[in-house]
Amino acid sequence: MTEPLHLERRDGAAILTIDREDRRNALSRDTLLALGRAARELCEDSSVRLIVLTGRGDKAFCAGADLKERQGYTDDDVRAQVALYRTELGPLDRSPKPVIAAINGVAFGGGLELALVCDLRVAAAHAELALPETGLGIIPGAGGTQRLPRVVGEARAKEMILLGRRVKADEALAWGLVNHVVPSGADLLTETLAFAAPIVNGAPIAQAAALAAIDAALEVPLDRGLELERLHYDGTLRSADRREALRAFAEKRRPSFTGA
Ligand code: COA
Repeated sequence: MTEPLHLERRDGAAILTIDREDRRNALSRDTLLALGRAARELCEDSSVRLIVLTGRGDKAFCAGADLKERQGYTDDDVRAQVALYRTELGPLDRSPKPVIAAINGVAFGGGLELALVCDLRVAAAHAELALPETGLGIIPGAGGTQRLPRVVGEARAKEMILLGRRVKADEALAWGLVNHVVPSGADLLTETLAFAAPIVNGAPIAQAAALAAIDAALEVPLDRGLELERLHYDGTLRSADRREALRAFAEKRRPSFTGA
């Protein structure tokens, strides 16, 4: 059996490509397990500054749950599969390294939920995003009902989930659902890496602290959030990279961050 996930390293970026073009990169059980395994390893790898998630081909980033695999499933099998989303996408969700989705085509259902686990989303101009689950008699089960309203607000999330409407890249950009759209004709991965260059060249301890503080902002009251911000700030004070940034400023050069 071929591996459902392909890993390529480019400078400080680890590019994970879902490699199931014949099923429009749908999330089989093996694909979820491979995503979890890869994310756990990459989070521990100090040479990795950025994780990019994409899909093979230009048709689909990911068409969601593998509906063919699901054909023979019992209710309990489906419950177990939905639980896998939480355990296997959790490491990407909690990654201290920034994770970017490079959305190379449709991101439907679990595919959009996968993109929502990422910190940032870059889309090809022809990409379309949707949560069609209610049309299949279910609801999004990989975090879509929770993460989508946090990104686009309640009304737009309800519009997408109740109507199953496909949102095109330009509209997704206007909604803040994607951060950047790559014009047709340009190479999505090259453009995504250019967009993310400040991350790869940046200070990993500060980036991890910023991610943790921002994620907390969505969970806790403001007073507690401000306290968490102070604690995360404090963690950056002890880093060698902070001192390197001050030295570089004084010496009028670009800082060279090591992650220490
Ligand atoms: N699970 C398993 N296989 C899938 C799939 C999925 N989610 N989505 C697509 N495929 C398969 C198709 O069955 C087809 O296989 P076949 O060649 O053996 O018939 C192949 O991928 C190509 O699909 P096709 O529909 O011909 O490609 P397309 O590029 O015209 O359209 C989609 C792609 C993704 C728009 C369309 O396939 C689709 O809407 N899929 C369902 C997506 C969905 O509802 N996901 C939410 C699940 S909760």
